[in-house]
Amino acid sequence: MANTIKNLEWRYAVKKFDADRLLPDEKIGCLKKAFNLTATSYGLQPITLLVIQNKEIQARLVPHSYQQKQVAQASHLLVICTQIAIDEKYIQKYFEQVKRVRGTADEILDPFKKALISDFSVKKLEEVQIWTKNQAYLALGNLLAVCAMEKIDSCPMEGFIPSAYDEVLNLADMGLTSALVLPVGYRAGDDMFSELKKVRKNLEDSIIEFN
Ligand SMILES: Cc1cc2nc3c(=O)[nH]c(=O)nc-3n(C[C@H](O)[C@H](O)[C@H](O)COP(=O)(O)O)c2cc1C
Repeated sequence: MANTIKNLEWRYAVKKFDADRLLPDEKIGCLKKAFNLTATSYGLQPITLLVIQNKEIQARLVPHSYQQKQVAQASHLLVICTQIAIDEKYIQKYFEQVKRVRGTADEILDPFKKALISDFSVKKLEEVQIWTKNQAYLALGNLLAVCAMEKIDSCPMEGFIPSAYDEVLNLADMGLTSALVLPVGYRAGDDMFSELKKVRKNLEDSIIEFN
């Protein structure tokens, strides 16, 4: 408990990264696994993580991030993307994976599979997009917590232009669109935000207990 809270207090939204320091592969590997372990609605994982460690691409994305330099300075730039469409093929693939991993019989999986295919076939594209985006936020929260535990500095970001990111990274070709950005690395020694006190509501204004 004490360590968990200490680590969460240590974490803050980094405004200036140390551009000379790279996270070791082991830390990036941990973030990839943590991303993939994120819980998602129905288990459909309509999200994909881009792990960018390329200063040229990172620099190109700064103007599409309202000039937020963290995108270029960070050791790695993580971009959480969502699936543009959830069609029958996508859902079938998920159930094939369930079958492969758990060996579950078709007669058990089929009713759930049919219900999901039917549900998604009538959903409007905007509805699907809201649902997929909710899953992206969940992954962001998970990654932020894991970063804190692993002493990886990060900055959650929705301050960027998704359509521009999609174009620079050719995401439409992969059936993806960008949802959230998370530069990760090491805070710069002179990031003034690292010294600022956390601003949060008083606990009693944030929590209501029913006994
Ligand atoms: C979804 C989301 C989007 C955010 N977008 C940005 C952003 O674009 N740029 C930025 O500098 N901070 C961004 N922040 C950071 C918040 O401003 C910050 O988390 C909040 O002020 C609390 O401060 P702390 O995280 O340092 O404790 C974002 C945070 C979240 C959760």
